[in-house]
Amino acid sequence: MSNFQWNEKLSVGNAEIDADHKGLFELIAELENSAVTRGFLSYILGRLEGYAAEHFAREEQLMRRVGYPGFDAHIREHKAFVEWLETVKSTYTRAAESPYLIGDLVNDFLRGWLTRHIMEEDMKYRDFISERKRASN
Ligand SMILES: [Fe+2]
Repeated sequence: MSNFQWNEKLSVGNAEIDADHKGLFELIAELENSAVTRGFLSYILGRLEGYAAEHFAREEQLMRRVGYPGFDAHIREHKAFVEWLETVKSTYTRAAESPYLIGDLVNDFLRGWLTRHIMEEDMKYRDFISERKRASN
């Protein structure tokens, strides 16, 4: 059992976005607890691609709706993630490296990215939204 789990401290105050984040933590646990074959790796990368498309769009829509001032900087992080994913995909389809090694790299990167992105970037829009709510009450 992985000790890398979603917890309340990571809540951004939006149930849908929290659910997306929980899904990503589960995906990482799945990656960690499975034998990484080529087929499994491509399944994980496919899920990540779907995640990036849907989750980022949801977050971007929320930030736009509330007029979040850090929108552009946040979008840059999402774009960088998508570029990273593209690089991994093209590397693993061309390279002879074992899927196991690539799985490890993906796992490390995701853990770091996810915790830092949520704790720093996502928390900024959470704080912005909750301050706006307070001000309008
Ligand atoms: Fe984000």
